[in-house]
Amino acid sequence: MVVEGGRRLKGEVEIGGSKNATLPVMVAALLAKGPSRIRGVPRLKDVDTMARVLETLGAQAGQEGSELHVDPRGLSKHEAPYDLVRTMRASIYVMGPLLARLGRARVSLPGGCAIGQRPIDLHLKGFEALGARIELKHGYIEATAKALKGARIIFDKPSVGATANVMMAAVLAKGRTSLHNPAQEPEIVDLAGFLKRLGARVSGEGTDCIEIEGVASLSGCDYEVIPDRIAAGTLLAAAAITGGSVSLRHGRLGDLGIVAEKLREHGLELVENGRGVRASMGRRKAPVHVTTMPHPGFPTDMQAQWMALMALTPGTSVVTETIWENRFMHVSELERMGAAVRIQGNSAVVTGVGRLSGAPVMASDLRASAALVLAGLAAKGTTEVHRIYHLDRGYERLEDKLTALGARIRRAQE
Ligand code: UD1
Repeated sequence: MVVEGGRRLKGEVEIGGSKNATLPVMVAALLAKGPSRIRGVPRLKDVDTMARVLETLGAQAGQEGSELHVDPRGLSKHEAPYDLVRTMRASIYVMGPLLARLGRARVSLPGGCAIGQRPIDLHLKGFEALGARIELKHGYIEATAKALKGARIIFDKPSVGATANVMMAAVLAKGRTSLHNPAQEPEIVDLAGFLKRLGARVSGEGTDCIEIEGVASLSGCDYEVIPDRIAAGTLLAAAAITGGSVSLRHGRLGDLGIVAEKLREHGLELVENGRGVRASMGRRKAPVHVTTMPHPGFPTDMQAQWMALMALTPGTSVVTETIWENRFMHVSELERMGAAVRIQGNSAVVTGVGRLSGAPVMASDLRASAALVLAGLAAKGTTEVHRIYHLDRGYERLEDKLTALGARIRRAQE
């Protein structure tokens, strides 16, 4: 991606559906007897990969524009192969529905990834509590259960993936399940909304205890996923870093939560109206500390973008990462553009500089790519962000949206 920096962003763009809400909802459609129509689905590599995963299980999944149809009637295979899980860790989500529908699941154990070790012990403990037997063989996790039975499950820590996976298994289990210390992210609330539309009995989503009363079967439904709060946060950070003013159709301040608070503290004026969110950067640019935490804390998926913003904010700010142990890979790339960052353990002390200068940089993961694009928008000269395939996994046509807001950004052949 080639970015010419120095233009204030101005105008209106639309926020598409949330990637992290779509992926579990697609898989949850396997729990029903009949087909589901999911609307507001972003066009993304990860969504395509998940559609392929569903097809390898015998289901059908096809996207037309922002609509996705999942027909689970052919569901017959219980294995998610290494080749797919390796490219997208969220494939692990198939375990819950497979156990619930077929009583068995064989899923390649996801390995580590750029942002650190990503264990799945909490998913597995949850399945065991529901009565599944778990074995690790030849790099695959094999789970079997004659019949899942509701249970009281206390998670060691809130995990989005484990909460979603265990919820999906529990909706068809016999009896009552309670999940304590679950993830409270808006994407979990959205998944619960979808499950309820299928006929599941779920309550307490978005709080520290989710209750599920198992039902015998579920039917397909029509559902629209929530807008992507991380895409919205990224575009608001783009407005802030360029001193611009933008409107986000379908943006929702409620889902942005603490990100909106922190942006306001930094100096971005934010108003929500019937159409979405309007943002404009005032004169003040304050350094603001953030610490990533499970929801409602500051999302780790906005940490890299926040650091790019702080790199250009006069004063000192501290960005602390508590979710992923290796999520500072963007730091050395931002330094190549002139940022002044000192890493101390899991904190980065950022001393704002007056200007960044464009440079060739390398993206290491999805949100790091976005951070480098943001830095490029505000830098003097040209920034080339390499390895942007990371960006395509999670941002729908980011360059088109930024171009519509007046940025000079284009995709080049590598
Ligand atoms: C999801 C998001 C990802 C985001 C993350 C945290 C999707 C597809 N991905 O990932 O973008 O960065 O939430 O908001 O929605 N953990 C364990 N054992 C487990 C599971 C997790 O120890 O079995 C730990 C992890 O190492 C991490 C923390 O729990 O430190 C949170 O991870 P989790 O919420 O599970 O992240 P994902 O669902 O993988």
